[in-house]
Amino acid sequence: MQIRTILGSCIVGAVMAGNVAMAEGGPHDKAIKARQAMFQLYSFSVGTLGDMAKGKIDYNAELAAELAANLNAAANLGQSAFWPAGSDNSNPENARNRALPKIWETFPAIGENAQELKDAAAILATEAGNGLDALRSSMGAVGKSCKGCHDEYRAKKK
Ligand code: HEC
Repeated sequence: MQIRTILGSCIVGAVMAGNVAMAEGGPHDKAIKARQAMFQLYSFSVGTLGDMAKGKIDYNAELAAELAANLNAAANLGQSAFWPAGSDNSNPENARNRALPKIWETFPAIGENAQELKDAAAILATEAGNGLDALRSSMGAVGKSCKGCHDEYRAKKK
């Protein structure tokens, strides 16, 4: 009985400590999560279109057009509130993120990379529903724009 009570209170203590640690996030965590959600949308759209382009799943014109339209919409979101100063990966208070300080140090240079994606996504949005060949030939520029920005502004995975 005695032991059970001690164990019980240890568990309660551990759970409470966990809650406290989670409540103490950095001041920019919501903005970081919002921009990462945008990137997850990019990734889901491009990943599924890539699977179609490679023949891993059947080409479906309607779905391809929808995914490309989604990517195009996501690429055109206003992003001002997603990138507050201090929300880079050098501050350990921040939620897990891989945004290099260079983004802010060289701003607005990153805008060129964002524009590259917008241009490529606009073409993909008009082409993706026009057959497998049209999808394939408009995917490359999109992938290139993702990689170009990651090479410059995203930290490598640890
Ligand atoms: C203008 C620059 C830029 C472009 C263009 C860009 N990315 Fe990123 N991406 C970043 C940065 C910076 C991060 C790190 C953000 C962070 O961790 O807060 C990132 C993070 C990500 C992540 C990880 C998100 C997470 O949950 O941690 C994914 C997935 C991703 N990008 C996919 C893509 C895809 C797919 C494309 C092209 C369709 C793309 N990105 C285009 C700069 C860019």
